[in-house]
Amino acid sequence: MKKHVVLGVTGGIAAYKALDIISALRKKGIETHVIMTKNACEFVTPLSFETLSNNEVVTDTFKRTKSWEVEHIALAKRADLFLIAPASANVIGKAAHGIADDMLTTTLMAARCPILFAPAMNTAMYENAIVQENITFLKNKGCYFIEPDSGFLACGDLGKGKLQKVEVIVEEVLSFLEEKKDLEGKNIMVTAGPTIEAIDPMRYITNHSSGKMGYAIAEAAVKRGANVKLVSGPTNLLCPDGVERINTQSAMDMYETVNQNFQWADVVIKAAAVADYRPAEVSDMKIKKSGEDIQIRLTRNPDILQSLGAKKGNKILVGFAAETHNLITYAKEKIEKKNLDFIVANNISEENAGFKGDTNIAAIIDKDGVSNQYPMMSKTELANIILDKVRATL
Ligand code: PMT
Repeated sequence: MKKHVVLGVTGGIAAYKALDIISALRKKGIETHVIMTKNACEFVTPLSFETLSNNEVVTDTFKRTKSWEVEHIALAKRADLFLIAPASANVIGKAAHGIADDMLTTTLMAARCPILFAPAMNTAMYENAIVQENITFLKNKGCYFIEPDSGFLACGDLGKGKLQKVEVIVEEVLSFLEEKKDLEGKNIMVTAGPTIEAIDPMRYITNHSSGKMGYAIAEAAVKRGANVKLVSGPTNLLCPDGVERINTQSAMDMYETVNQNFQWADVVIKAAAVADYRPAEVSDMKIKKSGEDIQIRLTRNPDILQSLGAKKGNKILVGFAAETHNLITYAKEKIEKKNLDFIVANNISEENAGFKGDTNIAAIIDKDGVSNQYPMMSKTELANIILDKVRATL
């Protein structure tokens, strides 16, 4: 299927280089749609982009189109990748603050595909703490950035801020669009989200897991050709296309579901945050308050991963370790105890790591004790690194 790239062009002297990007992408058979800001039109004419992309260039939010589609939504839906090149300090700032006041920023706000910024501006602007904070903020929200190049800038300054070379940008775009099918035919079971352990019909014990890490793995695995079963605790997330989701509530539920499907799986990746304990007695009726303190006795839940480790055979078992201290030591103990091929260790007390956010910071440790520490990245990027390791182990 043809891939679609939406290219947002903002006002800057490097805008003319976006013409080469369009031309290179079209040569690779990629359909391109260009949105220009008003300032961009001061540097290059829409006609040049129209000629090279062979599509109408969009500049005006209120221009009547021939079709009755809402244009910015239609473009956002069509995009497999949204590239903004050159990305000015202005558009980065608007995106970071949710400002959608022209065609480019409204489309950007509606986009669900990966968003890639290629900044270009004067060195002092690029190094400005506000611009850098906006870039960090957007990275934390899952956007990607191509570092600008260094050299002589149009303003005469020497430093970082030149739009990255067209070949580098095009290479990066292609790697986003490339569909690896290296897990074709593999059956992968992923667990995600929290478990909830009932106290009475109204109350339960749970944890902060949003499910995002496990869902990112399930989505990445299906895109790479695997058959995926996602055993999910309660979350607010949409099931990724092509994934079979099996909903569970408590650790006992998850234990049964995972064990029932174990035979089917070639690989199990356990990103769920499973409660180690549950209330020993669950009241049928709402526990009424009294003047006294009450005690809830907790009993151990089975360790799901350990139960799989005991009958592992030649299946691949991947665990997660969520810790607040002694991360690597505890993670190594878990590999041994649960008979895992490797473990993904994340420190849940670190900023931008662990629960809820769109990013994680993790180390992957294998059963031979070899450990690789990764910097902060989106959960999708980490998911693909985990799947690369699964692929290598297979
Ligand atoms: O869902 P998010 O908001 O995106 O957050 C992601 C995450 C922090 C939940 C995820 O990255 C993560 O670390 N998941 C594992 C959480 C956890 O339960 O860690 P643990 O160290 O307590 O357990 C170790 C491993 O044993 C885990 O793979 C866990 O799924 C498994 N386990 C634990 C207890 C139990 N009774 N049965 C299990 O199978």
